Amino acid sequence: MLKGRHLIEPGNLSIEELDNLFSLAARIIDDPQRYSQVCRGKVLATLFFEPSTRTRLSFEAAMLRLGGSCLGFAEPNASSASKGESLADTIRTVSCYADLIAMRNPKEGAALLGTRYSEVPVINAGDGGHHHPTQTLTDLLTIKSIKGKISGLTIGLCGDLKFGRTVHSLAKAMARYPGNRFVMISPPELEIPDYIVSRVFKPSGVSYTQVRRLEEAIGDLDILYMTRVQKERFFNEQDYVRLKDSYILDSQKMKLASPDLCVLHPLPRVNEIAPEVDSDPRAAYFRQVTYGMYVRMALIMALLGCDTEFVEELGLRKQAAQTAEIPAGAPVSLRRKRGSK
Ligand code: NCD
Repeated sequence: MLKGRHLIEPGNLSIEELDNLFSLAARIIDDPQRYSQVCRGKVLATLFFEPSTRTRLSFEAAMLRLGGSCLGFAEPNASSASKGESLADTIRTVSCYADLIAMRNPKEGAALLGTRYSEVPVINAGDGGHHHPTQTLTDLLTIKSIKGKISGLTIGLCGDLKFGRTVHSLAKAMARYPGNRFVMISPPELEIPDYIVSRVFKPSGVSYTQVRRLEEAIGDLDILYMTRVQKERFFNEQDYVRLKDSYILDSQKMKLASPDLCVLHPLPRVNEIAPEVDSDPRAAYFRQVTYGMYVRMALIMALLGCDTEFVEELGLRKQAAQTAEIPAGAPVSLRRKRGSK
């Protein structure tokens, strides 16, 4: 049961829970109408202390398509953070208004900190260069839908493997499935952090290699995961300018790839995929955007407990109302507060 849980990094979900989310997402894709009111009366808060297009709008679209409502802010200047309010106080406040919080923050560990102060589930929508678990759900559902499996694949991770949180989360998640192999393609300055190698790749026994040139690796890949060089995480502009165009996927390079290659990118892209690649049937990054919304619908339903059929849910509420001093219909922040400081 995912109801009431937080999602901070991919390891918070078991393989079985991931499978359940993917099959729920597939059922939603098959018949979206059936799910169009399941979160009626529920509120999602999106707290974005860092820019976003896809992740925030995808969360909001997901909630609206489930019949729920959204509130929040898209940049810290539009919140009391600009007056000096602590993250703890912002989260305490918002969890009085919302049933679920999706938050993005430039600081690593911010979402985990948020869980300490929240009365409702917190979803990490990106914490600095650390993790981005819902992008991973998106990536895994896309791979599963296109390749029919998430195991036994050769995955090329290309670009900024140092600061790219989507890469860290994807590597962590895919290393748990049997038979996956990683090819890391990056300049020396942007190699994957040591902790991913020592705490993820080595213990799980996955095979990984490192190359500098995309041309060397592309022919062996089932999945090519392109990423943007993360300008906002660089300490100096010159380094960014020097490294930003390290890899550019174009039609010439696509000729070296297998006809079954699947090209993914969490987006936004800057220069790393030439627009001419978009019309190649192997380019799956815009399909990936759609899968992202559906998997977030599944996740929202699961964390709010709307995935177990409503009849059951209503039954539970009735039972709770008979025993609780505070009515079951009271805001969750009040209901859970009882007995706590
Ligand atoms: C990514 C992110 O924010 O980490 N974008 C996204 O959520 N789809 C990738 C990026 O910004 O490069």
